[in-house]
Amino acid sequence: MVTPWIHRYAQRTQRMTSSTIREILKVTQHPEIISFAGGMPAPELFPVDEIGEAAEIVLEQWGPQALQYGLTEGYPPLREMIVRHMARYGIVVTIDEILITSGSQQALDLIGKVLINPGDLVLTENPTYLGALQAFTMYGADYTTVPLDEDGIVVERLEDALRAGPKFMYLLPNFQNPTGVSISAPHRDTIVRLSDRYGIPIIEDDPYGQLRYEGAHIKPFVVLDSEYRQCGREGGYTGNVIYLSTFSKTLAPGLRLGWIVAPREVILRLVQAKQGTDLHSSTFDQYLAYEVGHGGFIDRHVQRIREVYRQRRDVMLAALERAFPDRSCGVRWTRPMGGLFLWVILPEWMDSTDLLKEAIGEKVAFVPGGPFHAAGGGANTMRLNFSNATEAKIAEGIERLGRVVSRHIEQHR
Ligand SMILES: Cc1ncc(COP(=O)(O)O)c(C=O)c1O
Repeated sequence: MVTPWIHRYAQRTQRMTSSTIREILKVTQHPEIISFAGGMPAPELFPVDEIGEAAEIVLEQWGPQALQYGLTEGYPPLREMIVRHMARYGIVVTIDEILITSGSQQALDLIGKVLINPGDLVLTENPTYLGALQAFTMYGADYTTVPLDEDGIVVERLEDALRAGPKFMYLLPNFQNPTGVSISAPHRDTIVRLSDRYGIPIIEDDPYGQLRYEGAHIKPFVVLDSEYRQCGREGGYTGNVIYLSTFSKTLAPGLRLGWIVAPREVILRLVQAKQGTDLHSSTFDQYLAYEVGHGGFIDRHVQRIREVYRQRRDVMLAALERAFPDRSCGVRWTRPMGGLFLWVILPEWMDSTDLLKEAIGEKVAFVPGGPFHAAGGGANTMRLNFSNATEAKIAEGIERLGRVVSRHIEQHR
């Protein structure tokens, strides 16, 4: 007898939804379509030669070890390298406070596994990163959300949401996915104090912090928190923040390598959770990342990525000015100082999912903004990615999209 699988799935799978947008976006693989939909880095910038050379060195010098099972916590020299990297951003930790993960996405899943009981409230920005919602929802999270403005999360609204007693706040400090906005320095200070007052931890997801194209670096929450409570040196970091970052945007996402910084007691729990998930992240990839990175290559490479993405962002912003209806028609967009995305807000009555179908007819694609909103709403928004298309394609694609948006507004009138 063949089992009726439908009766075997765990209850939590009922919260897994297949997205209609994903179905529509499948066609964006077609070479004629200019897609601003994905969140992918530019493949022409991947350091293929350097990774190739590193792979040879790793196999020659460390072959058997690099192909063997490893520590769940991660390859110690890679963690040492991350300690040095983080120290430059003011994050003073030891390797005992670092766990290597299979991308930041796994970090989000492990955090869900360790912290979320079914029915727990999680505080998120509205909109927020869809992959985090997917990870947390699987563990039964419900959400309380706080809106964003150009200074990031609206702190005046935060306290009300904290009073609802969320398990943690999930915040994206720099060039947020999907909107591209960052949380300002004064707001970060306020949030660290509120986190302390209410005893509610911060999950700081920072994949884009290094991809800043203008303006000064702003201290991450984990630094502000350790300064606030004067921890972080000999005693290790013992504060309220779990910090996540990744090699996906600075080296290559296919390596699937990220890391978590957290108080040791939390790392211990996350390590136990990771053991049940994948034992450890790929040993070979960790050796590779160390071999490529330890001499300072990643820093030089990031400079190049910044130059290319800054120009692409500028081309997209200039094209939007030229081709899109303006504020007088109720259309506006963010001007991110870094990262991979910008965010367009259309007139209230417009539905960007309808617009996407027409846009695909014009051979251009984007991601409708609705699903990024944990509490619903945002049907009139869209995310545009500027890292994954050439400048010429960006200009042409925004021209096409502008025509679709203008046509909609004309028809409405
Ligand atoms: C905010 C945010 N967090 C986490 C991730 C996951 O990144 P990865 O698993 O490749 O490190 C992404 C990917 O785009 C992201 O935008």
